[in-house]
Amino acid sequence: MYAKFHAIGAYAPSKVLSNADLEKMVDTTDEWILKRTGISQRRIASDDEYTSDMGVKASSLAIKRAGLEHSDIDLVVCATVTPDYFNMPSTACVISDKLGIYNVQAFDISAACSGFVYALSVAKAFVESGMKKHVLIVGAEKFSSIVDYTDRTTCILFGDGAGAAVISATNDKSESIIDIHASADGSYADFLVTPAPGSIHPVSQQVIDEGLNFVQMKGNETFKLAVRTLTKDVKDILFKNKIDSKEIPHFIPHQANYRIIKAVGDALKMDEKQVVLTVEKYGNTSAASIPMAINDIYESGRLKKGELMLLDTFGGGLTWASALLPFAGETL
Ligand code: ACO
Repeated sequence: MYAKFHAIGAYAPSKVLSNADLEKMVDTTDEWILKRTGISQRRIASDDEYTSDMGVKASSLAIKRAGLEHSDIDLVVCATVTPDYFNMPSTACVISDKLGIYNVQAFDISAACSGFVYALSVAKAFVESGMKKHVLIVGAEKFSSIVDYTDRTTCILFGDGAGAAVISATNDKSESIIDIHASADGSYADFLVTPAPGSIHPVSQQVIDEGLNFVQMKGNETFKLAVRTLTKDVKDILFKNKIDSKEIPHFIPHQANYRIIKAVGDALKMDEKQVVLTVEKYGNTSAASIPMAINDIYESGRLKKGELMLLDTFGGGLTWASALLPFAGETL
């Protein structure tokens, strides 16, 4: 039994937060943000729109495009670090309920920006073992809920959104997921951290006063480590599978910063046509970033059935992951 990437869907909230808007909120400029990050705008969920709602919209699309009924799904995995609830019920359970999917296993994965590829590795293992046939994996984030909009070093980076995919069983090896590497190094935990709420800092007046509920990042250190790790990870997976970087039509890296993507693309000798870029319009949507980018090239007609995708991601934990797989859905 093999696992195939059967269908993709995504959702971006309608509200746009532009660099010009941020100029009015913190001491920054459109020019600085564009030059240092490549981001022009990001989407922000409305007050009554939650991580699960965005995940549900992306999931409905993916299930429909797979030609399946909601009742065909036998496992729901949601990757998020901005769940509806800290910490129960899981967002996967909330999504399952909103989709009308009952009596199946559902759980969340916490791996920050690497969450979607982590979820992909879990789905692959469940399908290949014969335990599940159609796994729904979701990357959904309401990152605006943990961003301090007075901190110019982080608030310019992040946006909200969701992406989802259906991973299905197949006997046809040619359409199956080829390989996934996923890894972590907790000794860099302080590079990207949301200190509260948690068992170290339960909710208290101190948490509110010190803003410990907001994301904190060592941006420059993270940047350097991201370039190094992403490049090595891609080189390793290509070498192991005897594939040259020139043979990859769709390199889909985590969309954190254009300069990181450019440095990795250059190190791999990829030309611009191979590299998928959505960071300019969505910013960094963490676990939603890669499926939103896949959906983008799918909906624009650039991604066709059978074409090879190389995913590469890096995030809080620290975590990182890469995946090599053909797109096994129908061309739009
Ligand atoms: N506007 C204007 N100036 C700014 C801003 C801003 N928004 N933010 C920072 N600056 C200033 C700094 O204060 C600093 O000023 P100083 O030299 O007087 O001290 C100067 O700009 C340079 O700051 P750096 O932090 O060195 O800038 P850098 O070029 O590293 O860019 C950035 C910062 C964009 C955050 C970059 O480091 C980055 O993208 N880091 C990686 C992010 C990432 O990949 N995260 C991983 C995934 S996220 C996840 O897992 C959830």
